[in-house]
Amino acid sequence: MAQVITKQPVTGIQMADWTKEMRPSLLYELARTFGAKPDVISFAGGIPDLRLAPKPELADAAVQAIQTAPRSLQYNRDLIPLKEKIVEMMAWRGVSCTVEHINITAGGQHAMDVLTRLLLNPGGQVMLEELVYTGIHQAIMPLQPEVITVPIDPQSGLDLEAMSATLAAGARPAFLYTIAASHNPVGVSLSQEKRERLVSLAQRYGMPLIEDDAYGFLHYEDNPPPSLRALDEEWVLYIGSFSKVLAPGFRLGWIVAPPELNEQIRAIKRAAMLSVAPLAQHIVSAYLEANDFAAHVKRLREEYGRRRDAMLQAMAAHFPPEVKWRRPDGGMFVWASVPEGLDTEAIVMRAVEEELVAFIPGKAFITDVANGRFDHFLRLSFALYEPERIAEGIARLGRVLARVIQESKV
Ligand SMILES: Cc1ncc(COP(=O)(O)O)c(C=O)c1O
Repeated sequence: MAQVITKQPVTGIQMADWTKEMRPSLLYELARTFGAKPDVISFAGGIPDLRLAPKPELADAAVQAIQTAPRSLQYNRDLIPLKEKIVEMMAWRGVSCTVEHINITAGGQHAMDVLTRLLLNPGGQVMLEELVYTGIHQAIMPLQPEVITVPIDPQSGLDLEAMSATLAAGARPAFLYTIAASHNPVGVSLSQEKRERLVSLAQRYGMPLIEDDAYGFLHYEDNPPPSLRALDEEWVLYIGSFSKVLAPGFRLGWIVAPPELNEQIRAIKRAAMLSVAPLAQHIVSAYLEANDFAAHVKRLREEYGRRRDAMLQAMAAHFPPEVKWRRPDGGMFVWASVPEGLDTEAIVMRAVEEELVAFIPGKAFITDVANGRFDHFLRLSFALYEPERIAEGIARLGRVLARVIQESKV
């Protein structure tokens, strides 16, 4: 991760010790900076294209929620009809569960915060992959845990040999956080065999797995493996989200967990927000009731799949041969590398300056501060633009990469 924030605010107010360890999120800062420049083609943020959102249907649902569901404007509990729809969606991921297993959250990020508070003692251990979605760092940081890092194989994902050895050597993390389907940033999905092994390790060592399935509904190949939660009801705590398949603005997600944990989960949620936005819950519930959501998600898969293919084709056509990447089977990201020794943080600055194109440098996702191994990697999101614009952006980036690589040889 990027450097520790050194600039402390000039105030007499004493903040909690952990805030001194706060790190800026390179991912968030770069995505925000590049996304705000109108002429820049930004492959940086992992945000959905809201031109694909069902806006008229959502508008109808909003009117209905406010006019006919008076409880939508009141403090409220999780909405049962919404949970029922989530139970149906979970079946698409191979999971059989009931409304009793579901807790609604304010997005996947809130779910990470809730599960961290549920499982982790201050100063305890957690296990993370060496490349990871940075939101989990933000969730665990206030508890100042000892982070145990597991290597990740760019072709097959989580390194289970290394993980197994660490557990056998005595590590007892409060949980492992992982993205088994279309990993952010690496784009890899775990095979069925690896999923089974991972779950059996969790069972054997009594270690909960937090499965972040933010991209689980966006797969572009046939027959994706079911979620980890389909393999185990007790040790897998599943996080789902409406952000990538409907709109992040609703701030709605969910946890699937054993009902025995409900009382504690609800208490943690209440401490932060009393009710998870009842109006958002009512609107999404009314939308799901009145529309064919499966058909919407299928359209998203087709469109994002087209964009993935457009990006891969353009990369093959425009990138110098030294640049390598792998084809993701879902999600929003292509993970790529330039020759070792080059620093993609410096390259992205040049790319924005010289060709008005942006991406996120690999180092934004590292778990270990001292880790320089991913400085020559980059993450490109293909979700935001139509194929023609993607091709234009990749052509621009190809020119920058060719210049940088050429210069590095002289
Ligand atoms: C892996 C992953 N988890 C969670 C989130 C946050 O999702 P939400 O909007 O549901 O909080 C993101 C957003 O990019 C993500 O990539």
